[in-house]
Amino acid sequence: MDRVIIFDTTLRDGEQAPGFSMNTMEKLEMARQLARLNVDVIEAGFPISSEDDFEATRAVARQVGTLDGAPAICGLSRVGLADIDRCWEAVKYARRPRIHTFVATSDIHLMYKLRKSRAEVMKASVDAVRHARGYCQDVEFSPEDASRSDFDYMCDVLSAVIDAGARTINIPDTVGYAIPREWGERIARIREKVQGIDKVVLSVHCHNDLGQAVANSLTAIMNGARQVECTINGIGERAGNASLEEIVMALRTRKDFFGIDTRVRSEEIFRTSRLLSHITGVHVQPNKAVVGENAFAHEAGIHQDGVLKEKLTYEIMRPEDIGRPANKLVLGKHSGRAALSARLKDLGFDLAGPDLDRAFRAFKDLADRKKEVYDEDLLAIVTDEATKIPVAYELDYLHVISGTGVVPSATIRLRKDGELFQDSGVGDGPVDAVLNAVDAITGLKGQLRDYAIRAATSGKDAIGEVSVKVDFDGTIVSGKGASTDVIEASARAYLSALNRMVHTAQRTKEVGP
Ligand code: KIV
Ligand code: ZN
Repeated sequence: MDRVIIFDTTLRDGEQAPGFSMNTMEKLEMARQLARLNVDVIEAGFPISSEDDFEATRAVARQVGTLDGAPAICGLSRVGLADIDRCWEAVKYARRPRIHTFVATSDIHLMYKLRKSRAEVMKASVDAVRHARGYCQDVEFSPEDASRSDFDYMCDVLSAVIDAGARTINIPDTVGYAIPREWGERIARIREKVQGIDKVVLSVHCHNDLGQAVANSLTAIMNGARQVECTINGIGERAGNASLEEIVMALRTRKDFFGIDTRVRSEEIFRTSRLLSHITGVHVQPNKAVVGENAFAHEAGIHQDGVLKEKLTYEIMRPEDIGRPANKLVLGKHSGRAALSARLKDLGFDLAGPDLDRAFRAFKDLADRKKEVYDEDLLAIVTDEATKIPVAYELDYLHVISGTGVVPSATIRLRKDGELFQDSGVGDGPVDAVLNAVDAITGLKGQLRDYAIRAATSGKDAIGEVSVKVDFDGTIVSGKGASTDVIEASARAYLSALNRMVHTAQRTKEVGP
């Protein structure tokens, strides 16, 4: 095969990491963008792990997996047969459904986690793959903790699952333990030793605990792997997974070296990265390769001089290769619906009807407060609209008194089921006062576990984006809010977390324990 299959696990391994959880609407929005990015496979979730994960995976299979030219939609499952049944129930709607089943093969995991013998794990693996093949052709198998598994035993398991019908064999460096040269050799040895390996796709899934995930993925490709599992912005368990954008751009920029490419539309990379940051409220570090704020910024005079004379002097990729927009002024308060719709289309959001009406109202509201509206502002508006969960409490009015030498106080009015509720609170700062006032109305006491604020664009009148993580009696939920007034943005972020908590509690009641 002359290309590398890009298997994106942002919505599964990425979402599994603390602080990155996404609701169904958010996963759908991300999945649509991943389809635009043209990844080959989207791992949408781990359906047996929770009712929400099941629903989100099913929604992605139904709404994204049925589009023309859609990526394959994959669900993760352990080797238990009930896991596989549940996984199939979620992915079966896609045009190209995939079941990804895994079990650990390292003695450490067998002894301490699974408490199973090698023979038992071997049998469970074969049974699982056979069972999955009863549902669909596209079955993937992963020997978890492959980098620390006994090589000969792992190869025996792989030969057996290929015989049982696995079409993709994925080798995970689950704990990010491998070092590139050693990993490359392991992949090469697997190709020599495993029976039938030439008839299946060999894949790798690298974690970044030692900062080697991308290097290990690339070395694996050089040694015959033809699928890589990766995530946008490199999010994932602990130190994360291999970063999709780094792998794709390394292969593209150094095609002379690797001689192989992917089908990814690289000009969608920047938008996808920013959408994920916006949805999760977690921003990439400024010096992050490819998508960081400074990735294309030339600060040193000697570099600027070189770039002005000839970009090739210091630029190995062009910002436009990854779709990075100049932060240009796009619209103002006199712009109409058609202009907004056209610009949103350029940004990858094809809105019409009530969706466009809502986005237009939010845009007008923003343009009244902020003279210059940038692409990043529009992204904030549309992703907020698209990923909203049902609102239980809505902000109606907010008044805050704060300053030097006064006790900060806030009065807030919330709307719930058409009724208005008002109360006030004091605190050690204006944000604390606002959150206390909200708690006084709802009777719920949220503990703020994390609070982050950033400007969506440059300029004193920029939108402030606030992301919070709130602990409501043991349930930790995230929320985000945006406004040109950062206190209002904080109130909105807290309310969005509160609404998410109420929504989750209602869903749990509907679904049962
Ligand atoms: O890291 C890992 O081993 C995994 C498997 C489920 C593939 O995520
Ligand atoms: Zn993983």
